[in-house]
Amino acid sequence: MSSVQVDYAKPAAGGRDLTLQAWARVPQAPGPAERAAQKARAAELLREHDAVLVAHFYTEGDIQDLALETGGCVADSLEMARFGREHPARTLLVSGVRFMGETSKILSPDKRVLMPDLDATCSLDLGCPPDEFEAFCDANPDRTVVVYANTSAAVKARADWVVTSSCALAIVRHLADRGERLLWAPDRHLGDYIQRETGADMLLWRGACIVHEEFKGIALELLREEHPRAMVLVHPESPAPVVDQADVVGSTSQLLRAVIDGDADEYIVATDNGIFHRMRQLAPGKTLIEAPTAGDSATCKSCAHCPWMAMNSMGGIIRALETGAGEISVPEPTRSQALVSIERMLDFVAEHPGSVVPAYRGHVAHLGSA
Ligand code: 13P
Ligand code: SF4
Repeated sequence: MSSVQVDYAKPAAGGRDLTLQAWARVPQAPGPAERAAQKARAAELLREHDAVLVAHFYTEGDIQDLALETGGCVADSLEMARFGREHPARTLLVSGVRFMGETSKILSPDKRVLMPDLDATCSLDLGCPPDEFEAFCDANPDRTVVVYANTSAAVKARADWVVTSSCALAIVRHLADRGERLLWAPDRHLGDYIQRETGADMLLWRGACIVHEEFKGIALELLREEHPRAMVLVHPESPAPVVDQADVVGSTSQLLRAVIDGDADEYIVATDNGIFHRMRQLAPGKTLIEAPTAGDSATCKSCAHCPWMAMNSMGGIIRALETGAGEISVPEPTRSQALVSIERMLDFVAEHPGSVVPAYRGHVAHLGSA
């Protein structure tokens, strides 16, 4: 096991940004024989413990395959939350980053929620500390507080609404149509994109995803010249010069659906390359090209793969199920308060099934667990 250091941004007083350091553990990759044995053992443990595996598209391929082979799901963060809440299993094994496990626990307090590594975090969550966020909200009491799902339970507890990238545009448009002025946190790029699309009055927190922020607009232009027929798929955590070149802007599920349904032979994809595993399975024969980043760096910041998603290993799943390690707990009253803003989102999506397909060129319907 080694570790990488990661720089991330956090807003500070006076409109400045601080650069802070975090770290991520890098699990050792097992050899082929051990991989197969670990996968079989994990499947056996899931059965024994009445557990279901809820995995994100950015986790390693074997974990995604195990989830689907054992009746779990591989999905975006909205669908992970919905799947975990609906599934009857007593234990949810959430493979992703910490906020995903917390959301599952908030929605299913009577289930045991385990994660392969509780230190798997997210730069958006780290860049939005609850006490500083609280002060930001207190300073703007006339604004409706909308937060991205990539936040701690305490930040969600302070919010009026939680949104994910699948439904953010539709929910903000709905609130803006009601004449509400918004406070948005933490992703500045997603906030900026939504603001430009909806014209909503939004005051933005200045956090960023360390993975998507590395995609580069000028390099993407050059790549598109080399592949003039390629469709460009972009996750909206990317900066505006990248988003502005997209044929499709959407959540991970929406980008996956775009590859499955798209007429093009080639796709330039600006999101974590963990999603290529499922794209290759569901759209074999199509050519997938990673959108350009700043290139190799000392950390894996610029490698289009989230260092915290990479902390999820099959060994971690086995350890969690064998020992009960990695259990998520969310204290009261934070849990009940956060539940209100998450349920508002889930109710909105249930009541407006077409709402996650906004009237915007290239958006696609929510795909579910694919
Ligand atoms: P999705 O909800 O689109 O899966 O995004 C979650 C995430 O963390 C993207 O970086
Ligand atoms: Fe957070 Fe970015 Fe990793 Fe997604 S890819 S979990 S937004 S750091």
